[in-house]
This record gives sequence, C-alpha cells and structure tokens, in this order.
Amino acid sequence: MEREKHLSDKVKSVQASGIRYFFNMASEVSDTVSLSLGQPDFVTPKHIIDAAVKALNEGQTFYTHNMGLLELRQEISRFLSDRYGIDYDPKTEIIVTIGVSQAIDTAIRTLVSDGDEVIIPQPSFVAYRPCTVMAGGVPKFVPTYEEDNFALRPDILENYITDKTKVLILPYPNNPTGAIMTKEELAAIADVVKKHDLMVISDEIYSELTYGVKHTSFASLPGMWERTITVNGFSKTYAMTGWRLGYIAAPEFFAKELVKVHQYTVTCAPSMGQFAAIEALRNGDGDIKKMVTEYDCRRRFLLGEIRDMGLSCFEPLGAFYIFPSIKSTGLSSEEFATRLLYEGKVATVPGTAFGENGEGFLRLSYASSMDDLTKATKRIKEFLKRI
Ligand SMILES: Cc1ncc(COP(=O)(O)O)c(C=O)c1O
Repeated sequence: MEREKHLSDKVKSVQASGIRYFFNMASEVSDTVSLSLGQPDFVTPKHIIDAAVKALNEGQTFYTHNMGLLELRQEISRFLSDRYGIDYDPKTEIIVTIGVSQAIDTAIRTLVSDGDEVIIPQPSFVAYRPCTVMAGGVPKFVPTYEEDNFALRPDILENYITDKTKVLILPYPNNPTGAIMTKEELAAIADVVKKHDLMVISDEIYSELTYGVKHTSFASLPGMWERTITVNGFSKTYAMTGWRLGYIAAPEFFAKELVKVHQYTVTCAPSMGQFAAIEALRNGDGDIKKMVTEYDCRRRFLLGEIRDMGLSCFEPLGAFYIFPSIKSTGLSSEEFATRLLYEGKVATVPGTAFGENGEGFLRLSYASSMDDLTKATKRIKEFLKRI
C-alpha cells in the first residue's frame, strides 16, 4: 500500500516539535537534570483541586455551554478588566478552550484563508507555524534580536508586510526568550497594525509571570481592542498544565465566528476543569504571588550563574525561561544542547527549536527546583571548562 498519498499535504509539510525531540532524547539518558520543560514544577494549589473534586462529587459531569460555564466567563471577564483594563461581555465575547493551544488554533483557523500571510516574530512558541500551515496560511517569520531585548521592532515588522498579510501574532511575554514588550513598544507596533489594517492574535499566556514590570495587554491600546483576539489560560498562571484550560477574548463579531470553529472541534472544554478555574480566579491571587516570588528568585540565581560562566545573557523579565547566547563556544545550538545532554547530563532546548534565528542560543527553564538549578549550573560550568 502506498501510504504517503493518503496523508494531507499540509500535515506532511509540518515537522514534529523540536522540544519533544529533545525531551524524548533526554529521557533516554540516565541521571540528567532537566531544565527543558515549559511547565511549572508546582502542583496545582489544593483549593483549586478541591473545587474540581467537589464538582465531580456533586455530579457535574455534563457538557457545558459551548462557550464555557457562564460563571467562569464572568470571572474571566472580571479578571481581564481588573488586571489589564480590557472589557469583554461574558455572554458573547469569551470562549473557554482546551488550553491556549486550542485557542491559538481556533483563532488562526477563524481568521486565515488559503494563501493569507501570518506574521510570526521569532524565536517564539512552536505551535504558531504548524497551526498557520494547517489552516492554509503562509507563515512569515520576523526576526527579533538580543540587542533589542528580543522585542519586535516596528521598522523590521514593516519590511515583512505585503498585500497578503492578514494577521500578526504577538507572543509576549515570550517563550523561549523571556522577553516582554513595554506599553510604549507595543504602541509603536499598534501604529503599524492600524496602518496596514491587520488583525492581531495576542498570546498572553505568561501575562501574570512578569518580574518588576506590569504586563500590558495589546487590546488595551487605543484602537486595538476591535482588531485583537486575546488568548490566555490557566496552565502557567495557576500551575494547571494538565487540566487543559484556556480562553479566547474577542469582540462579539469575531467571537461568533470563533465559536463555530470551537464548537465543531471540541464542543466545550472539560466541565470539571471549568469549576476548578472559577475557584482559581476567585481565590488564586495568593498562589500567583507565591509562585512569581519563587520564579523571580530562581531567575536572578540563574542569570547570575550564567553570566558568571562568561556567557552573554539578556535579562528576561517574563515567563520562566532564560535564553543565553552560546555563540562564544563555537558550537551550534543543537551541538551544544546534544553534547550538554550526553556529556554534561543537563537537558535543555536548542534555540533553533523556536525558529531559525534561535541559532546561537539555548533555552533553560527555571520552572525547576532550586536544587535542580544548582546542580544543573554546576554541571554546565564543568562542561564549559571541558569543551
Ligand atoms: C507561548 C505559549 N502559548 C501557548 C502555550 C500552550 O499552553 P496550554 O497549556 O494552555 O495549551 C504554551 C505552552 O508552553 C506557550 O508557551
């Protein structure tokens, strides 16, 4: 049987994630310390787990409204308004999704027609490219640079806009660089967006994980609310990766169309997780504070250690990643990450897993215990001395 011909061309053209590749490779090497994972090392706070267990014990095992429980949408609406000054009608403008992963896919599929160009700053999260390709769109990668603290530059962005450009994805705070964009920097991007009549998908999954700066939601900038689809979720903020819960906030005109894609793909997000999310939004502020304080402590430690090793590294102010340059070693990102894994017993992710211009960098996650960070930095130091 000729199997190839039975596969979709779009799916065939998509590569498996480089993060998973390294993760799987690392699982075959014994005694490694892993700084490769993009998920909190904290267990979901107990009161949030209890809310889900309670809901299950009370028989809350049914489909919810396609857009999610209204009570949850009301809490999300309040959260977005209180925290970021963006207002959405919980009845018509918020959709609860299966993680931000599904929110991204749904947003792209709702906006993109065959041949439309989607601008993706790089390095960035691995899903934007395949989701664009599978929706029939054409990804266009705009490089960001260490000299600019990995912020997207409006003049560089303009060079990539054509008459086919439809959507700009804004991935800040950023995975893998840990970069944030200030209100002023975003305002300059907003001018370009307006000038070229673009739509924006703003992935703000790390919005609560910032250090010494307050996150600015792109939709809060003048004129941007009506052309922005904001995606956010619970995985990182509340240490709820396994619950698979996220949401989309968008003007009603777009939400009506987004919900069609959402409904015919998944019907609704899992009900028990939605009850947990209500509890997280109502009583989880203290948990966020505690986790952010701990991440910040690890961030400072790791940054200090890395600079001490003689590697150049810009200071990340968001998410829980650090993105040192390994150019001075003369090795490529993949060579460095592979040798560090086998010879140094530390698992990381090469910058190239997040796009070609991640070459020369390495992603380390500090969503790992201080013990692991201490062990890992010691090993990296020894490895650097040997190579
Ligand atoms: C930037 C970014 N967006 C979205 C996601 C997906 O998150 P979720 O667990 O909510 O699907 C991730 C996960 O690592 C991420 O880093």
